[in-house]
Amino acid sequence: MSQHAERSHWGSRWSFMLATAGSAIGLGNIWKLPYMIGVNGGSAFVLVFLLCIFFVGIPLMMTEILLGRRAQKNPFNGMQALAAEARVSRSWKYLGGVGMITGLLILGFYSVIGGWVLSYIYYAAVGTFTEINGAQSTANFNALLASPLTLLFWHTFFMLLTMGVVARGVNSGLEKANNILIPALFMILLILLGYSMSVGDMHLAAQFMFNPDFGKITPVSVLSALGHAFFSLSLGMGSVMVYGSYLQRNVSIACTTIYIALIDTALGLLVGLAIYALVFANHLPVASGPGLIFQTLPIAFGHMPAGSFIGTLFFILVAFAAWTSSISLVEPATAWLVENKEMKRSSAAWLIGITVWLLGVTVLLSFNEWKGIDIIFGLNVFETLDKLTSTILLPLGGLFMAIFAGYFMRKTHVQEELNLSNRAFDLWRFTNNIVAPIAIGAVFLYLFGVIH
Ligand code: TRP
Repeated sequence: MSQHAERSHWGSRWSFMLATAGSAIGLGNIWKLPYMIGVNGGSAFVLVFLLCIFFVGIPLMMTEILLGRRAQKNPFNGMQALAAEARVSRSWKYLGGVGMITGLLILGFYSVIGGWVLSYIYYAAVGTFTEINGAQSTANFNALLASPLTLLFWHTFFMLLTMGVVARGVNSGLEKANNILIPALFMILLILLGYSMSVGDMHLAAQFMFNPDFGKITPVSVLSALGHAFFSLSLGMGSVMVYGSYLQRNVSIACTTIYIALIDTALGLLVGLAIYALVFANHLPVASGPGLIFQTLPIAFGHMPAGSFIGTLFFILVAFAAWTSSISLVEPATAWLVENKEMKRSSAAWLIGITVWLLGVTVLLSFNEWKGIDIIFGLNVFETLDKLTSTILLPLGGLFMAIFAGYFMRKTHVQEELNLSNRAFDLWRFTNNIVAPIAIGAVFLYLFGVIH
């Protein structure tokens, strides 16, 4: 059967760990979390985000891995097989189906932002940032956004990088690359943090991020924090499920999850500190939105010794982090086309690539030509895709996965995968079956005005 011929496994538990960490660590940590902290009022958001990671993200990451490993199939077939095993409706397969589409919707804007990062490698290398000030840096960024053709060039470049790897299969080259690149990213980040500490206003940054002001917590910021916990850990659409399906039996799901969640979260918070120290020292607006890192970090690089070199290296590493994430966004849909539609992997990759590329074109136009055009609730194409996926589709996907594993699967089957001590298993069950569904459900109900 072709299905068996195609289905491979990770070379070792390290490969899984690195690939999943590679999926989790991406633009979500370096680009999105910092600006969301600013837009949502700072410390209160950080606190809610951390609570979401610990009480919802970690248990649900375990859930998603266990579903994938038990099923040993792409999310669509996998959910169908698990439903058959549990003797419940096969319609659960649509949970996998919606997830595959969600991944493509995310990549539609992820690739455009990935393109911004690629363009910044170039700008850093040619010395654009040397001695730059806040206003110049903002002007540079705005000039990039104003040019559809430049954005198109870099978006296309990013899509080619992504689909090129997917077409070949998640090769050991990329798995190994993570091994070197993620630690390297941390190192440069520490240099950046050191620089920010010496010239930036670390005191204000820390206060902004870690001194909770509960008055600033609003239902919308809680929903954004919850959505971002899913986004940052790559949960709710099947990336982690499909990676889990390539995982061997003998690996501890719990340990792997905790390790990944901790580095993922630490990375985001460190970038946030480095950035806000510069924001305060340069009197830049805290709530400047998606352009934040592109406006602040060049100032740091522009004034550091060897700044062009370190800046170039930094954006290269960010591009790698984004690349290892974007691959995981298309893997569920690719695996489905290969395993169900008997497509060649490379044809599947190109079909998906062209579709997502077109979607990306509408996203990049929303920063210039179509800026004023609203899709829904006053949001443009980029904002619609971002909000729809992060705040609705991912939390709902996670909610249904939790319900399935908690209430429909046999307890013994779940425990076979998790293989935890009784106490740890009870803890997982409590968070998966009760805490996470109530948290996600309550946020939605509140938002739709059902409870006040
Ligand atoms: N987690 C990645 C980031 O932080 C993005 C990502 C990859 C993702 N796969 C995902 C987000 C699946 C949601 C679902 O950049």
